[in-house]
Amino acid sequence: MTTTPFKNEPFVDFSLPQNDKAMRDALAKVKNELGKSYPLIINGEAVFTNETEPSYNPANKEQIIGTVSQADQKLVDQAMEAATQAFKTWRYTSAEVRSSYLLKASAAVRRRKFEFSAWMVYETGKSFAEADADVAEAIDFMEYYAREMLRIDIPVPLVPYEGELNRQIYIPLGVGIVIPPWNFPLAIMAGMATSAIVAGNTILLKPSPNAPIIAAKFVELMQELGLPKGVLNYVPGRPETIGDYMTGHVDTRFISFTGSRDVGLHIVEHANKRIPGQKWIKRVIAEMGGKDGIVVDSDADLDAAATAIVQSSFGFQGQKCSAASRAIIHKDVYDTVVEKVVQLTKALKMGNPEDNAYVGPVIDDKSFAKVQRYIEIGKTEAKLATGGELGPDYGYFIQPTIFIDAKADSRLMQEEIFGPVLGMMKADSFEEAIDIFNSTDYGLTGSVFSQNEEHLAYASERMFCGNLYFNRKCTGALVGVHPFGGFSMSGTDSKTGGPDYLQLFMQAKLVSEKF
Ligand code: SER
Repeated sequence: MTTTPFKNEPFVDFSLPQNDKAMRDALAKVKNELGKSYPLIINGEAVFTNETEPSYNPANKEQIIGTVSQADQKLVDQAMEAATQAFKTWRYTSAEVRSSYLLKASAAVRRRKFEFSAWMVYETGKSFAEADADVAEAIDFMEYYAREMLRIDIPVPLVPYEGELNRQIYIPLGVGIVIPPWNFPLAIMAGMATSAIVAGNTILLKPSPNAPIIAAKFVELMQELGLPKGVLNYVPGRPETIGDYMTGHVDTRFISFTGSRDVGLHIVEHANKRIPGQKWIKRVIAEMGGKDGIVVDSDADLDAAATAIVQSSFGFQGQKCSAASRAIIHKDVYDTVVEKVVQLTKALKMGNPEDNAYVGPVIDDKSFAKVQRYIEIGKTEAKLATGGELGPDYGYFIQPTIFIDAKADSRLMQEEIFGPVLGMMKADSFEEAIDIFNSTDYGLTGSVFSQNEEHLAYASERMFCGNLYFNRKCTGALVGVHPFGGFSMSGTDSKTGGPDYLQLFMQAKLVSEKF
């Protein structure tokens, strides 16, 4: 198959009236479809269960987005069996055919991009631009992994050896459990699912209980495209009922997880226990949290730095693993940067995502309570500069909140909050700022604003994070351009959207023929 070179999907410009109208039309269409029932999909068949769970709009707590059937352990067994059977043929399906499903899916998502964005506005409280960026990233993942699979399909060059023909090829692993997060409910979910599938594996996709409908819509689309039965099984269920059961299953070969540190560590531990009949060491690919930060040097462009801090901290209410929750500022420019950041933050409009407000709700009651707990902790550890209040009580709204004069080792500056809370602090020197940046258990994203090339070189060497950016925000990694993933407690050192990623779902096999 020949493909055009990969290029990133452009973002929609919502300042153009026709795009704004297309989005509002899509919202109206999706609104009419809210409240339907969604089945499990096992071996291509819809399975409705008596047990169901609603998915709510976080901006409108009473509004049900859809009601989702819930798998029990027996249904997980059925899905495992379907995936195991499907693997027998899917593993030998050519890379070209497997890749073509991703290319078809990306084209179909592109045709329906406003509709997918609208589902995210309702189910996860994204603004138009945040939802559109999510759709663009989903398209990018599929376009990128389709091409990557074609590249990997060509055997790697080995050292030639007289009288032998040697080849190293990559073969799939088997049946995988894919557990995506709710915060990039289309992009990360589709990226995790399709990377595993294009590599020749079959999967059980367990959607986040906070965003199961978007996942159901994607699975429906893959069905419409004729993906063979059993390759992608949609298995929503309560984590306490089926979580450990799926990851601990004897037929599970790998687990691809994105979510919190605690759940990630639990999966790593649980999956490591060999159970009778288990023939392999399960592979776990885990993308976990962050305590990401932005360092501002004394000679930095302070307006650019302030804008980047606000965007990185409060875009999608700070609910990105890449979001900045710490700003570490050189003492010479601290007061100016604080003033600029606070001013920009106060100007952010909170409101309904349906009306394209910049600041929407946090995802659910648990998150709402957790962020408020951290705001109370922050009040005892630092000085509240703005925010801290709640918004209208029909949704989980919390004002973007900034604490200043924070201490490096405080809970505010060490623990992941995953909400619209930023801690700002002063450093006596650039070097001290880098040490402070490195002082958490995480290592996902970081930014430096500086015009000093020596300082940038120093930061490049010393800052311990998987995605380090200079003079730009620390969110918004582009597929293929900025392979994404972190160190330490941020995960298993994998890089989504990068040239090493698909191998995580494959194993290398050497075939040597003597003449
Ligand atoms: N890839 C996203 C970003 O860079 C986070 O998952 O913001």
